[in-house]
Amino acid sequence: MVKQNDVNEKLNQCVNDLDKLAGKYGTDKCTQKVGDLSPKGYTVQYYRYLSQLRDLPVKLLEIGILAGASLKMWEDFFPNARIYGIDINPECKQYETERTKVFIGDQTDREFLRSVADLVDGQIDVVVDDGGHKRASTQSAWKSCFHV
Ligand SMILES: C[S@@+](CC[C@H](N)C(=O)[O-])C[C@H]1O[C@@H](n2cnc3c(N)ncnc32)[C@H](O)[C@@H]1O
Repeated sequence: MVKQNDVNEKLNQCVNDLDKLAGKYGTDKCTQKVGDLSPKGYTVQYYRYLSQLRDLPVKLLEIGILAGASLKMWEDFFPNARIYGIDINPECKQYETERTKVFIGDQTDREFLRSVADLVDGQIDVVVDDGGHKRASTQSAWKSCFHV
């Protein structure tokens, strides 16, 4: 069991606002170890490229939801954004909220990704691929998202 004081100390060591939210919601993209998984620290690069968009009404799609931690992080970080999540696991539907829409399907299925694109009103501004972590699935999703 993780003690709240230990969590607070870790959150104090976070390097930016997005990193703090990663720690708060428990995604391993944080720079600090706040859960069971080893910290990946991707929030450093995410913040570098995305912080300038923070207040804009962006549309962000993340492939790979797991327990919904990163979707919560994005929704909290971008107060005016629409967030879209994709996962192959039907149980991830539970992470849908007023501003976050969840689509269940396989990122290697180009028909499925096209149907998601049709359901999302207008273009997606940011795509984060944290799904299958296989070259084929990343390539397939990338080709579908960028129409190549
Ligand atoms: C690393 S976890 C996502 C973690 C989440 N982004 C976070 O930081 O809290 C990867 C997720 O990708 C999903 N996944 C794996 N293969 C997939 C595929 N081919 N299509 C869609 N989702 C897939 C898994 O079900 C799992 O929930």
